Amino acid sequence: MRRMEEEDISSVVEIERLSYPNPWRDMTFRGEIYNQPVSFPFVIVHKYQKRIIGHIIFWCIKERAQINNIAIHPDFRRMGVAEAVMRKVLDQIKKAGAELVTLEVRPSNVAARSLYEKLGFEVLWVRQNYYSNPREDALIMGKFLSQ
Ligand SMILES: CC(C)(COP(=O)(O)OP(=O)(O)OC[C@H]1O[C@@H](n2cnc3c(N)ncnc32)[C@H](O)[C@@H]1OP(=O)(O)O)[C@@H](O)C(=O)NCCC(=O)NCCS
Repeated sequence: MRRMEEEDISSVVEIERLSYPNPWRDMTFRGEIYNQPVSFPFVIVHKYQKRIIGHIIFWCIKERAQINNIAIHPDFRRMGVAEAVMRKVLDQIKKAGAELVTLEVRPSNVAARSLYEKLGFEVLWVRQNYYSNPREDALIMGKFLSQ
């Protein structure tokens, strides 16, 4: 895992396109790269192939942290990559002093929900009709980090 740079954006946007009905655009990633010190955009690079196989973006603001995006290239899913990355990020967030980490997920996204539940996240509340294309509620999931 290393910090995302402008040259990474085309690979990241391609993984987005393969992962979401409403993918983030290159401008959004550029904004995250320069939104310091709030945003932490990282790419996941294959150790031997040296290619970008995923990305994660989270925000840390004092005692609150938010995971805004995690996506793994379809060719590298179900290999434990997202779980390893999330564990590393949760550790970093905890060391930075955050007490609560939250994220948003579609109820229909079984893969992501299972991942978050495995890591100890719980549904805190539901935001009605939050997503479009297709329209769906958002589950706001959270995990308290004991210091
Ligand atoms: C969700 C996502 C990031 C998971 O990445 P991944 O690297 O394949 O996940 P892992 O291999 O680390 O899996 C870890 C755990 O997640 C859960 N999981 C992952 N994929 C799953 C699937 N297709 N079905 C059910 N559970 C799944 C399982 O609990 C798994 O643990 P297990 O292997 O012991 O069963 C990936 O599917 C993805 O990029 N999806 C598209 C983007 C997305 O939806 N991001 C989340 C937005 S909220």
